Amino acid sequence: MRVLVTGGAGYIGSHTVVQLVAAGHDVVVVDNFSNAKPTVVPRLEALTGGPLEVHAFDLTDRDKTESLFSERQFDAVVHFAGLKAVGESVEIPLEYYQTNLDSTFALVRAMQRHGCFRLVFSSSATVYGEHAPVPMREDLPTSATSPYGWTKVMIEQVLRDVAKTDERWRIALLRYFNPVGAHASGTIGEDPSGIPNNLMPFIAQVAVGKLDKLRVFGNDYDTPDGTAMRDYIHVEDLAAGHLAALTRLGSTDERVSTWNLGTGQGTSVLEVLHAFEAACGRELPYEIVGRRAGDIAASYADPSRAQSELGWRATRTIEDMCADQWRWQEANPLGYPD
Ligand code: NAD
Ligand code: WQD
Repeated sequence: MRVLVTGGAGYIGSHTVVQLVAAGHDVVVVDNFSNAKPTVVPRLEALTGGPLEVHAFDLTDRDKTESLFSERQFDAVVHFAGLKAVGESVEIPLEYYQTNLDSTFALVRAMQRHGCFRLVFSSSATVYGEHAPVPMREDLPTSATSPYGWTKVMIEQVLRDVAKTDERWRIALLRYFNPVGAHASGTIGEDPSGIPNNLMPFIAQVAVGKLDKLRVFGNDYDTPDGTAMRDYIHVEDLAAGHLAALTRLGSTDERVSTWNLGTGQGTSVLEVLHAFEAACGRELPYEIVGRRAGDIAASYADPSRAQSELGWRATRTIEDMCADQWRWQEANPLGYPD
């Protein structure tokens, strides 16, 4: 298939591009590089063994999105592009609503107009809100605690409504849990700008000496060691989930399918820290501080629907995730070059 990957220069998109090319797909990327560096492109080309077609523009620009679809025929779209920082979304909500919704509107309009009806969308476990029981199942009600989360809830609803208008639509809503890790080559990975908000890149930067110590947000949760538990999933397993979803969309009668992509296992903050210490071969400094506002005690998936319907399951362990994250961080202490 010829697959358009929006946000294909970003963290999850780049790993998915490599797997799509390896599976024989003809991949075209659109990315405005608002949260990625162009130097990822030659690294992707080295991994895929050929030139990669990349269009650098903002998807919210309806004219440019429309002209890309006029020039090229796509069989499917994997839509990663968007803003994703929960805390930032509270500071600048309009930016988040506008970017995430307008880019989706422009994309889906162009798809409709040009007869491309297969779409895989990056949703998030954040749509389960703060009171969801674990393990989280796809049929739980959705809600959100941040403007970022609401954009995911809203886009899911928009896509369900659009799907009702044409029987050709086949849409996958993939709800990711906590993506971490990097490609085993250590040449592509997550490159957050500024101080990382998320646990794994923060620990990696402590390990490489960029940050002094980890602050563990709370050890008084109702969990075995008191620290909060999350469902960390290796980005390579996540990327494989996208390929499985794309394939499944070719054979299902359901217009919209919702799948959790997670391991089904919760791992605590201290367990992640200790796994990372084993990966990098030394003890890492940390201190326990108060809970972070908005955090919940435990979040992990019931991944059984994806397992049975997609024939997909996450296979990599937390040790694999830390080893690959460390290989990437150690080789690229400053992330991608400018
Ligand atoms: P990322 O920021 O690394 O990748 C997103 C890419 O989209 C970036 O390369 C950015 O430059 C590009 N982009 C942003 N706005 C754009 C626009 N208007 N036009 C064109 N390109 C644009 O993020 P990621 O971690 O790879 O996440 C990918 C998707 O998965 C996002 O939709 C995110 O919300 C979702 N998601 C991420 C996580 C996570 O923890 N990383 C969890 C759940 C869901
Ligand atoms: C994990 C655990 C923290 C940093 C976020 C988004 C979610 C999704 C994935 C997009 C928590 C603890 C963290 C630190 C810590 N993204 N922690 N010290 O909050 O589960 O999920 O990313 O859709 O929407 O909210 O991930 O990596 O920030 O935190 O103790 O310096 O690590 O309290 O328990 P989170 P995280």
